[in-house]
Amino acid sequence: MHSRIRTFGEYRAAYKRSVEEPEAFWAELARRFSWKKPWDTTLEWNFAEPSIQWFRGGVLNISENCLDRHLQERGDKVALIWEPNDPTEASQKITYRQLHERVCRMANVLHNNGVGKGDRVCIYLPMIPELPVALLACARVGAIHSVVFAGFSSRAIADRIQDAACKLVITADGMCRGAKRIPVKEVVDEALQECPTVKRVLVAKRLHLDVAMKPGRDAFLDSELRKAAQKFEAEPMDSEDPLFILYTSGSTGKPKGVVHSSGGYMVYADYTFRNVFQYEEDDVYWCTADIGWITGHSYIVYGPLLAGATSVLFEGIPTWPDGGRFWEVVDKHRVSLFYTAPTAIRALMAAGPEDVERYKLSSLRVLGTVGEPINEEAWEWYHHYVGKGRCPIVDTWWQTETGGILISPLAGITPLKAGFATLPLPGVQPVLLDAEGTELAGRGVEGNLCIKFPWPGMLRTTWGDHERCRQTYFAPYPGYYFTGDGARRDEEGHYRIIGRVDDVINVSGHRFGTAEIENAINEHEYIAESAVVGYPHPIKGQGIWAYVICTPRAPGEEQLQAEVDELVSKLIGRIAKPDVVQVVPGLPKTRSGKIMRRILRKIAAGETDNFGDTSTLLDPEIVDTIKEGALVKL
Ligand code: WT7
Repeated sequence: MHSRIRTFGEYRAAYKRSVEEPEAFWAELARRFSWKKPWDTTLEWNFAEPSIQWFRGGVLNISENCLDRHLQERGDKVALIWEPNDPTEASQKITYRQLHERVCRMANVLHNNGVGKGDRVCIYLPMIPELPVALLACARVGAIHSVVFAGFSSRAIADRIQDAACKLVITADGMCRGAKRIPVKEVVDEALQECPTVKRVLVAKRLHLDVAMKPGRDAFLDSELRKAAQKFEAEPMDSEDPLFILYTSGSTGKPKGVVHSSGGYMVYADYTFRNVFQYEEDDVYWCTADIGWITGHSYIVYGPLLAGATSVLFEGIPTWPDGGRFWEVVDKHRVSLFYTAPTAIRALMAAGPEDVERYKLSSLRVLGTVGEPINEEAWEWYHHYVGKGRCPIVDTWWQTETGGILISPLAGITPLKAGFATLPLPGVQPVLLDAEGTELAGRGVEGNLCIKFPWPGMLRTTWGDHERCRQTYFAPYPGYYFTGDGARRDEEGHYRIIGRVDDVINVSGHRFGTAEIENAINEHEYIAESAVVGYPHPIKGQGIWAYVICTPRAPGEEQLQAEVDELVSKLIGRIAKPDVVQVVPGLPKTRSGKIMRRILRKIAAGETDNFGDTSTLLDPEIVDTIKEGALVKL
């Protein structure tokens, strides 16, 4: 059995084996890691509760597997290359040995500050080396990390800290993104006014700002690190002990804390990383995501470090100082495996070919994409201008909940088709179901994408509310994990992901529930009701369109848009701001009071007819009124 597939025939064989003998298949892959105690049972599961246990009885520590396990063979190999926001600032190379020491020191700091096994730690940091170090240090002491993307607002931080009852927060004084300098510590301070469980705040110095420090609660990370010892014995963790919580939006208002395990997640992140990208020992790998999202957890930190790879950590943005920044970094560090999002590709495409043509890009071997469906034009541009026609593109489909990639080509092995995530990885059993929950057999079919067998990286629960996990993912189609996506299986059996079938909008590869944004908008004192939908956006994939009903004293539409922007930025974060705010006299509702979003989506997409059956609407004329109002915005 191969832990690394090299031909399409090997893929076929591995897939077959993973379905016929899933336990033997994954047990063999799990043996490459250091276990402090081997597991007793490889898999125990039922999707009804749900209860999913991989490698039960096994004892390990994932930080040991990311670091200590490599020291002998590749202690002096570069683990992380940090490329700062500003190209004139020096980059940093951190070897496995140095990273091990930094993680041990940070683990001691956590320990000295009262953090131990099972405690929750909130991490709110920009893309600086302290961020991956913090994740690994939490894992080393057995604490559960909850990373909050550093673009979220203080309200959003407070919600997440309260939900998980975090004890400690790791943050920074400030951050830089492109030409902007953004305060960070003060955002956290505001959040913490409502978070009594937080006893300690550790502050990394990125901008050397003069920040307010609360005596008895706040400390600078650098001074704590200086006091800390450089060895830390990794905490023995049960395979099923939670490794981290990561919040993600669903169709209901409140984000869910998706919980990932230690053992299964480790095996899955490593296997998928090595196979999808066809990783080789001398590769330089760069994933441009932020560690605040699952992509960064699995494919900047855990996957690459488990594999012993060199992973680039980039603080900046694709378009600053100009649209050539990504390509400059690729040439500078001789990046061979490059993984980004369609939204970034489209933004750079819009900047014109000059910015990419200035660079050689000769080190590139494999390109990847993730986060949303990639349109054919962006795929072709990526293939031609970046890959120079010689690099395979892996269109990787997965989710926060899946822990790792589920459907994707294996680079250079699986035949490619623009817009297709192609075939399931070994161990992944996708099915398409119709609305009644019947499996659609054969090829050339389209339906709701579900998975019918567990894989090691899947979520185990949603923090503090197991019932919600069951309701959301396992109750819609009993016996299956429901992804929330629609997909098509073509005549050759390849999968094309169509998009969400629930009320989730995908903006630049980030997920927002419409209810979450509506709740924020409804806080406006002169807005009585709102309905939010996604619509096709040339760069972001989907834009956010908000229909709002105002009360009499509301300001004009322009002023209102500015106020809604501010409100959403304050309650969620700037990334969730609506692109369009349209004041409407009413919403298309059925007699039972349900908003027909299908109609609102069509109007926002610029469609003027084909609204289907509107006879169940309370006031069918409202559709024309909304349509007229929308025309001037399109
Ligand atoms: C949703 C998950 C997991 C990576 C980042 C997003 C959409 C993700 C693809 C792809 C088409 C994709 C799906 C999915 N999505 N990758 N390659 N092709 N759609 O994680 O925030 O949990 O969002 O992103 O709709 O359900 P996430």
